[in-house]
Amino acid sequence: MSEQKIVLVTGANKGIGYEIAAGLGALGWSVGVGARDGQRRDTAVEKLRAAGVDAFGVPLDVTDDASVAAAVEVVTERAGRLDVLVNNAAVTGGMPQHPTTVDLAAVQLAVETNVLGVIRVTNAMLPLLRRSASPRIVNMSSSVGSLTRQTSSAGADVIGPLSAAYSPSKTFLNAVTIQYAKELRDTPILINAGCPGFVATDLNGHRGVRTPEQGAAVAIRLATLPDGGPTGEFFEDAGVVPW
Ligand SMILES: NC(=O)c1ccc[n+]([C@@H]2O[C@H](COP(=O)([O-])OP(=O)(O)OC[C@H]3O[C@@H](n4cnc5c(N)ncnc54)[C@H](OP(=O)(O)O)[C@@H]3O)[C@@H](O)[C@H]2O)c1
Repeated sequence: MSEQKIVLVTGANKGIGYEIAAGLGALGWSVGVGARDGQRRDTAVEKLRAAGVDAFGVPLDVTDDASVAAAVEVVTERAGRLDVLVNNAAVTGGMPQHPTTVDLAAVQLAVETNVLGVIRVTNAMLPLLRRSASPRIVNMSSSVGSLTRQTSSAGADVIGPLSAAYSPSKTFLNAVTIQYAKELRDTPILINAGCPGFVATDLNGHRGVRTPEQGAAVAIRLATLPDGGPTGEFFEDAGVVPW
């Protein structure tokens, strides 16, 4: 018997999140489109449905406790469990981010959304994930959060701009991902971080060189890992990303 999988993708109204929703929807999954703006959410859900995806809207601001609690209710009513959570929503916090002049509000916003938002949503969704036979959590991170790459000359091409908010927020997210994997080691839950590469989206003013569909591939791979697959690791299309 193959039961339809249920996934929630945060920040799924556009960019890479939308393509993760489309890709998993194309596999026949039921896709919760997590998005904070009602109009953008409805538009994305309609577009996905027009493409044949079993999509449903989930009002969700990852920085807001009440919104996240309400999202749990939406998924509970819809499916009663969650097979996969893709923590994709993120912000840069605003540029520029030179450490010596950075606006603390930018750092706060990046950490609030990219780290605390992930913890908030993950912990709220965990009871639903625990009802799945093969739960997966995918944290969309970035190789700009890799301390190894930022400090090795071989990785000079991925060092990226000076970033006192966004890059450290992804380093923090990576560290948190490891902690979850340690705690959940004796459960069927696999949790990993993924880097989509440099993708043309609103996040970077469309300066990226990859398409959102290409960027979604790593998340789709981590969402569909077989039982016994890796956990507490950091992947990009080419393989493991060093911490
Ligand atoms: N693009 C790249 O080159 C790149 C590289 C490495 C990693 N990543 C990561 O990939 C993921 C997707 O990025 P993207 O490039 O697709 O960015 P994007 O096009 O800017 O999309 C970001 C999404 O996050 C949502 N979001 C932001 N704050 C939110 C909040 N508080 N609550 C709920 N949703 C929120 C946005 O919703 P709104 O429409 O309401 O703002 C949007 O749906 C992010 O985790 C990003 O860090 C991207």
